[in-house]
Amino acid sequence: MSCHQEIPDERLSAPAKGMEHDVHTKHGFSCSDCHGGDRSAVDDFVAAHSDSRGFKGSPDALTEPGLCAGCHSDPVFMKKYNPNIGVDQLSLFRTSVHGIKNSQGDTKVAHCTSCHGVHGIRSSDDPLSPVYPVNVPTTCSKCHSDETYMEPYRVPTDQMSEYSTSVHGNALLEEGERTAPACNDCHGNHGAVPPGIASVSEVCGQCHSAQLALFSASPHKEAHEAMDLPACEVCHGNHEVTRPDDSMLGVSEGAVCAECHDEDSSGHAVASKLRELIDGLREKHESVAALVNTAEQAGMTMDEAAFEMNEGRSALLRARTAVHAFSVEAVEMEVGSGQEHLLKAETSASAALSEISLRRKWFVGLAILGVVMALALIRKMRDADRAVLRG
Ligand code: HEC
Ligand code: HEC
Ligand code: HEC
Ligand code: HEC
Ligand code: HEC
Ligand code: HEC
Ligand code: HEC
Ligand code: HEC
Repeated sequence: MSCHQEIPDERLSAPAKGMEHDVHTKHGFSCSDCHGGDRSAVDDFVAAHSDSRGFKGSPDALTEPGLCAGCHSDPVFMKKYNPNIGVDQLSLFRTSVHGIKNSQGDTKVAHCTSCHGVHGIRSSDDPLSPVYPVNVPTTCSKCHSDETYMEPYRVPTDQMSEYSTSVHGNALLEEGERTAPACNDCHGNHGAVPPGIASVSEVCGQCHSAQLALFSASPHKEAHEAMDLPACEVCHGNHEVTRPDDSMLGVSEGAVCAECHDEDSSGHAVASKLRELIDGLREKHESVAALVNTAEQAGMTMDEAAFEMNEGRSALLRARTAVHAFSVEAVEMEVGSGQEHLLKAETSASAALSEISLRRKWFVGLAILGVVMALALIRKMRDADRAVLRG
């Protein structure tokens, strides 16, 4: 470390400088733990780099995974330093396209340091780590968005451009929403897919479990399997998932259902009924909201109606999720409960508004009465004055 820091050639000094921030340095590991050689031979260049003291030189892309795994796949060794990190990185890596091609001699696919860096490796929960969630998309797209680099593989290079404008990319990269998936949440950190998931197509259900449960019990489950179609991506895409709205449902322009269901099929009929139900609830919500608002503006306390409005709104959200059962009954149930709540809100807003108009009538009535009484009083006083004058 001390020799390399002094070397003018940056290629040779940079590693020593980078090691200052490396997670391995913290435990006293140093150059020789990866490169071999003799770290005690401080003044002896030849001995420090001697083969007889195990000097390995610079590992290449193919030998590197084995080097890192020398420690990282050893459970007894790793437990001593950090019992919380797994020891399965290499075995998972070998199941991924990266790891498979690496073992076949491809040096361009990602290997450990392509994602973690080298000489300055940080813990994955360090915000400066290249695998810290918000940094992952940039790390992967270093290769995956490079058309020239990826050219020989004939795989698309648009993942990052699509992802960054998607609902997920926007949530993670713009809003710092850590529960939104980065590339590795769907593709796995080291393995082909995250542990416990059979294929990338099933990955959406990890986070969107309600939609997956409904989908799995629906007629679409079997239909997708028969056609070898993925569960969610058929309608939502994978990298370009956008925020759905009601226009996606049904059979009119821009809706997904008509893409597969002909006009005379039962799927077509169900699709337009679902849209009708949801449109009905949404429109009702809008009109009742306007009514409640008017009553509030007029100074009435509308706590109870606000509660019912909230319930109606939740039912609308649940109805949109229930779409994934692809059945009229499922959506009708949520829409029905939403309509009930909105009706209560509407009733109390209407009652408040008629109370206001009743109060207005009273006010006008009382005002007229007041004027009449005042006039009568004035007249009476005048009469009294005249009587005094006459007297
Ligand atoms: C955690 C393991 C690890 C540690 C610790 C480590 N290195 Fe490396 N080093 C590597 C790997 C892997 C490569 C090859 C990857 C690369 O070239 O990017 C490498 C490459 C190098 C190279 C060649 C760079 C080049 O551009 O050709 C030098 C020189 C080097 N290391 C010096 C050091 C020195 C000096 C230290 C201690 C200050 C050190 N390394 C600590 C893993 C390590
Ligand atoms: C000499 C044994 C050894 C070698 C070789 C080694 N590591 Fe480590 N590494 C460790 C230990 C021990 C830790 C745990 C440090 C801690 O968490 O405090 C660690 C931590 C890490 C971490 C941080 C884990 C986290 O998120 O907390 C990463 C990433 C990492 N190593 C990657 C690598 C890579 C990549 C290589 C190969 C270039 C490598 N290591 C080589 C022993 C080693
Ligand atoms: C394609 C990119 C990529 C490659 C290749 C890769 N890693 Fe990782 N690694 C990640 C990501 C992403 C994380 C997890 C970050 C998180 O937990 O949020 C991670 C986490 C880790 C951790 C922390 C503990 C854990 O398992 O979560 C260690 C240690 C680690 N990697 C070591 C390695 C080693 C050793 C190799 C080579 C055999 C390797 N990585 C190859 C991307 C990669
Ligand atoms: C060092 C460059 C590099 C980095 C960094 C990298 N990859 Fe790759 N990746 C490749 C290459 C090259 C292939 C091989 C393409 C092929 O043969 O299909 C590949 C293949 C893949 C595939 C399989 C594509 C297919 O269907 O064949 C996926 C998925 C993938 N990478 C995801 C990721 C993710 C996620 C990350 C970041 C965590 C990442 N990659 C980081 C170079 C890289
Ligand atoms: C929400 C989940 C999700 C996220 C996030 C995600 N992917 Fe994917 N990705 C998929 C699915 C699903 C496929 C299709 C896999 C299949 O059909 O076998 C795919 C396919 C791929 C492929 C194969 C080629 C292609 O485009 O079809 C590559 C390479 C890839 N993704 C890289 C990335 C990279 C890089 C990122 C981050 C910028 C990323 N993915 C983010 C789910 C995701
Ligand atoms: C790691 C968890 C995770 C995974 C995996 C995931 N998502 Fe998401 N998804 C989220 C989060 C969090 C949001 C909310 C983002 C926001 O609203 O800002 C979201 C939002 C969405 C939305 C918009 C929801 C709305 O109410 O507007 C859709 C649609 C969606 N995801 C579909 C998918 C699909 C399809 C996949 C698989 C290809 C997938 N997701 C994989 C976490 C995930
Ligand atoms: C990728 C093509 C595709 C899309 C898009 C699609 N479906 Fe289907 N759907 C099918 C297939 C295939 C079947 C099974 C064969 C059949 O009954 O037509 C099916 C079956 C159904 C059924 C059961 C029909 C029955 O007779 O039991 C309903 C209901 C349904 N879909 C509703 C919808 C709705 C609502 C949408 C839009 C949100 C939609 N589908 C979008 C392909 C699709
Ligand atoms: C046949 C087409 C289709 C399939 C398959 C499909 N969706 Fe949807 N999805 C829709 C439609 C249509 C909407 C919009 C409903 C609305 O807003 O009225 C939607 C809305 C959503 C939403 C936002 C509304 C909500 O529920 O919060 C999420 C999240 C979502 N889908 C996730 C998924 C997931 C996860 C899968 C796979 C298990 C999936 N979808 C499969 C058509 C589909």
